[in-house]
Amino acid sequence: MCSCFTLFIVLYLLNMPDESFGEMFTSMLSVNQAVSAERKLIDHLIIYIEHEAQRLEDIKRFFSRVTSLHDGIYNEPSDPIANPIAAFKLVKRLKSEWLNVVHSTEAEENIKVLREDYRRMESSLPKLEDLRGAAHGLMRLQDVYNLHVESLVRGHFQQISDPVDFYKLSVSDMLSGDDCFLVGKVAYDLEDYYHSVLWFEEAVRLFRGTEWSPENEGTLEDALDHLAFSHFKTGNISHALSLSRELLLHDPMNRRVHFNVEKYEKLLNENLPATSSGLTLKRPDGIYLRTRNAYEQLCQTKGSQPIRREIISLQPYVVLFHGFVTQAEAKNIRKYAMPGLRRSVVASGMNQATAEYRISKSAWLKESAHEVVGKLDQRITLVTGLNVQPPYAEYLQVVNYGIGGHYEPHFDHATSDSSPLYRLKTGNRVATIMIYLSPVQAGGSTAFIYANFSVPVVQNAALFWWNLHKNGQGNVDTLHAGCPVIVGNKWGMFKNKNFHKVTCTAVTNIVHPKIIILSSSTHSPLVQILFKFFSYVQHNRTYTEEWWKPLLYILYFDLYNGCQWLLFFNILQKILFCLHPKKETHKSLELF
Ligand SMILES: *[C@@H]1O[C@H](CO)[C@@H](O)[C@H](O)[C@H]1NC(C)=O
Ligand SMILES: *[C@@H]1O[C@H](CO)[C@@H](O)[C@H](O)[C@H]1NC(C)=O
Ligand SMILES: *[C@@H]1O[C@H](CO)[C@@H](O)[C@H](O)[C@H]1NC(C)=O
Repeated sequence: MCSCFTLFIVLYLLNMPDESFGEMFTSMLSVNQAVSAERKLIDHLIIYIEHEAQRLEDIKRFFSRVTSLHDGIYNEPSDPIANPIAAFKLVKRLKSEWLNVVHSTEAEENIKVLREDYRRMESSLPKLEDLRGAAHGLMRLQDVYNLHVESLVRGHFQQISDPVDFYKLSVSDMLSGDDCFLVGKVAYDLEDYYHSVLWFEEAVRLFRGTEWSPENEGTLEDALDHLAFSHFKTGNISHALSLSRELLLHDPMNRRVHFNVEKYEKLLNENLPATSSGLTLKRPDGIYLRTRNAYEQLCQTKGSQPIRREIISLQPYVVLFHGFVTQAEAKNIRKYAMPGLRRSVVASGMNQATAEYRISKSAWLKESAHEVVGKLDQRITLVTGLNVQPPYAEYLQVVNYGIGGHYEPHFDHATSDSSPLYRLKTGNRVATIMIYLSPVQAGGSTAFIYANFSVPVVQNAALFWWNLHKNGQGNVDTLHAGCPVIVGNKWGMFKNKNFHKVTCTAVTNIVHPKIIILSSSTHSPLVQILFKFFSYVQHNRTYTEEWWKPLLYILYFDLYNGCQWLLFFNILQKILFCLHPKKETHKSLELF
């Protein structure tokens, strides 16, 4: 960036101000083209330098010939005028040779060639607009990244608040006093004295220590003059005065500056208290002022990061949500769960029992336990679209694995009708989300045995999978196990979403309702009746296929919860509700 910037400035001097609209600053590709344009200019310049050197050589030769004559023949004690040859040559030199040297047009011809070469390239060179655009680009970086101008000038990217390079350029370059002067001038011309003060200050500082060079646009005096006026405009009159006084040391005859000094002195005498009170430079207001701070903050920091979803497997559907909890949340959850930790149990027949194949301690965390639990529930809903508020889901279960802690292959959903899950009337487990609350140095992956993959522990991530197919049957591919922890303290948190609620909008998710009926326990009398009912409506062409899906869904749902005749009529009623009132189809349907 910086080297290109210097390039623009060199060209600006050679280029007469051109108001045609430049566009070079709008893309880095054009900046690359400018690099090759300058290479060509360098080639032209070296030819010019060679010709000029040759010309000077010729002049020097003439000079040494004439001086040696004066050291020699005209120094003789004998009268040189007596030598007619010497006399002739003297007359000829004075009349002709000096004339030719003094009036030589060679210098003009050389510069003319250079200028013509330059003019031929002019269309491919940056315009004034480009120079201004590049200067604005630097000021934009300064503002948006809150850059310290003095460091930027030295080629370092440092924030005002933090004097450490947040980015190091591989090829570093610095800005000269004249570079800073031009940036300041762009701001100054727009009456943006906030930026002009900062950049002219750098220009003055750098000009003070260096010699003027022919390619420069500004001088120390120019910079002092502009800086003093910028300070005056921002209300810093005492500083405007001292800068103007410094300027007078370099340019004592400048009447305008003398006049300014008098004016500043007068102002200071009149109004001392007001001007000395803490002035702070204010950035000019942009068009997008309302969102500017937020925008700049987000350019400097990442803000609140989206949760990244990594699809681990499509069959079964297993995804990992990265950065699901923050470090602090994880710590809090561990802390809140600590007092409630008990040896983990497993479903065993109709009861729950501890088992060798599950070595861990666990605790249930209710929403009321801590606000973080409620926040996590909301987040789970956000990423999965599932209502996980109890009673539609189980409480969060925090698990801490012990030495060689593990959980041998198992399903999270119930695979038999006698499972205690059903006695709780919660329905089967649709999905599981497992949140990793700590890092584990070695071991502790979750292995999906039939699907043939395992997912290592990713701290603060959450692993999610569907236990059931869309038709409600258990997905055998979800057979999984918690691998033993080799080194580390594995903390996890589970949440199981149960089948508990049917909404009319959810019914379209049922893909193959017929399969449910045929594969379920068809000996149940309720199923028999409903099955007949479906066949009947299915064959009635006046009904669309869509309408009976909710019925099947509810039937299937009910199968899992044990059929009860009394509920049958209730169910039918709900079905009618689901089918008919269109305006209310999004209302949820609670069955139990
Ligand atoms: C005036 O500007 C100088 C140099 O930037 C600064 O040190 C001083 O604090 C300013 N004075 C006021 C009153 O802001
Ligand atoms: C599981 O995947 C691994 C790695 O791709 C492969 O070598 C192995 O044969 C697979 N096992 C089964 C049972 O498919
Ligand atoms: C189909 O359903 C409609 C609406 O209830 C009913 O009037 C009609 O009799 C049925 N048709 C047959 C063939 O069952």
